[in-house]
Amino acid sequence: IPMLGLENAMSREELFEFDQRVKKFLGLEGEVAYYCEPKFDGLAVELVYENGLLALGSTRGDGMVGEEITANLRTIRSIPLSLSGDFPSLLEARGEVVMLLEDFQRLNELYEERGLPHFANPRNAAAGSVRQLDSKITAERKLTFFAYGLGRFEGALPSSQSEAISLLADLGFLVSSLRQKALGIGAVADYCADMEKRRETLPFEIDGCVIKVDEISLQERLGEKSRSPRWAVAYKFKPVQALTRIRDILPSVGRTGAITPLAVLDAVQVGGVTVSRATLHNMDELMRKGVLIGDWVVIQRAGDVIPEVVAPLAERRDGLERPFIMPDRCPVCGSGVIKPEGEVVYRCEGLDCPAQIKGRLKNFVSRRAMDIDGFGIKLIEQLVDSGKVRDMAEIFRLDAATLASLERMGPKSAQNLVEAIEKSKGRPLSRFLNALGIRHVGEATAEAVAGRFLTLERVMGAKREELLEIDDVGPQVAASIVDFFEDEKNRASIEKMLSLGVSPKEEQTGAGGGALSGKVFVLTGSLSSMSRDEAKESLKRAGAKVASSVSSKTDYVVAGEEPGSKLKEANSLGVTVLDEEAFLKILSSSRETQQSPAQEEAPLASTPKKQGTLF
Ligand code: IVH
Repeated sequence: IPMLGLENAMSREELFEFDQRVKKFLGLEGEVAYYCEPKFDGLAVELVYENGLLALGSTRGDGMVGEEITANLRTIRSIPLSLSGDFPSLLEARGEVVMLLEDFQRLNELYEERGLPHFANPRNAAAGSVRQLDSKITAERKLTFFAYGLGRFEGALPSSQSEAISLLADLGFLVSSLRQKALGIGAVADYCADMEKRRETLPFEIDGCVIKVDEISLQERLGEKSRSPRWAVAYKFKPVQALTRIRDILPSVGRTGAITPLAVLDAVQVGGVTVSRATLHNMDELMRKGVLIGDWVVIQRAGDVIPEVVAPLAERRDGLERPFIMPDRCPVCGSGVIKPEGEVVYRCEGLDCPAQIKGRLKNFVSRRAMDIDGFGIKLIEQLVDSGKVRDMAEIFRLDAATLASLERMGPKSAQNLVEAIEKSKGRPLSRFLNALGIRHVGEATAEAVAGRFLTLERVMGAKREELLEIDDVGPQVAASIVDFFEDEKNRASIEKMLSLGVSPKEEQTGAGGGALSGKVFVLTGSLSSMSRDEAKESLKRAGAKVASSVSSKTDYVVAGEEPGSKLKEANSLGVTVLDEEAFLKILSSSRETQQSPAQEEAPLASTPKKQGTLF
């Protein structure tokens, strides 16, 4: 079962919008019961227990495939090696590995004594520790595991999230004592505000709260979008701020050639993290904020995002401050710098600018793209600087001898890299599209496009109108995709990759296996048992397509109350019309013939006995 991510709510208003979406989808009027707990800032892991014994532990990875780290996880005291009480034959517990603040401080003190570099924050320390090759080192660093959900589970399922958590506690897991049920979104918002206030007093770092619809049956109805469930949201705390001084501002060249002003700071702690660089986004922002080199500034860090400069403290100026001037030549390749009409960014015009090539390669090999293990930034720099790789395609020309000739690269690592490169040739189409670095095309869009066209050839030939039919693809994205594949240079680069053996595999759409696979439905009028969105979603889960207008390709028209003209069209075209009752029958029989939908937290039933709670 995939380990999904969470959508963020950045404000109280966005929490209320989440609640509105939930109610609209379910067609509910009354208050929804929610389950709330802190959002731990650590590393997500999954533990598999077979017959009550810890059999396997892994990181979340990309949600589908993670790293196996069982030996390391075994050294964590809050991870039971065997379950207590009435355990099921198979259980997957999911949760977060964190380093408590006191353990983090102790570790950094120890490192200082040994003359080793500090960890920037507890999360980095935790993540670095569980991924150690030597589990003795992991054992030395004290880590803590909080369980927050279930994966696969064999046994009687509980009916709510809160029951599932109590069950985990009964089985011997540590769960958060800060968890709480809240009736209605107002109570949820109060909980979040309270946690935000208490945040600094907790023994571990949290960066927000996780809110889930408590009832599992409602979670099931809500289902999930591509990477996150509709039944949960992460409320993110306001960014933490700090004061420091700008030593210099440098023009930094990104993979699209965009040159952004980057502030070099006197290092400062912001919410437990040492920050020495912050972005000023672009020249317009810099001018608007009126930031000068030498200024004292407020900077802020929101979760994972690069810290940003908020504002200068003009009253602290001593007259020695000076403005940043955008160079007219690229600081990396010396090509001209232009500011395209209507854009706020300055760009390096050089097509072969090493900074751009490095940026593109970094994106290409990254985990969510071609996922070439061991292909780090240092290697990219060496390859580009030595002229051995000038574009993405040339990665596939690298052989062990060339790689082994690089500094700090032994024959064994070179061989491993060659194998990793080979393996990446068969990555799914969506990853490949994400890897190409098409402007405005991120992971979700790449997936949607791959799911729609299935082959690279068809994506390359896709028309603007066809792209616009995809949910979430607007005019800007569609134009960007079309332009990318029309570009001769891009086509040549793709051809080269294909000739070197890259063959992006067709996507598994998941829809293929459904009981209503290939059937086209059109909905009209309103249903009494569910919202239009839920009806659509249920059909999609069963493999059906939902179209917006009736045509000869339509298999069924579902007519609810007060149907529109679509019903007439159905009748005149001789399309089968289903009333609500018939529609529900088709849906439920389709469910019987398919497996129960995958969900993040499978439910369980239990009576809370003891609580394995420490905090
Ligand atoms: S529930 C579908 N509960 O947040 C629900 N996640 O963006 C998935 N996280 O990678 C997770 N504390 O590592 C949940 N109390 C908590 C959490 C939590 C931290 C992390 C988790 C995941 C990310 C989701």
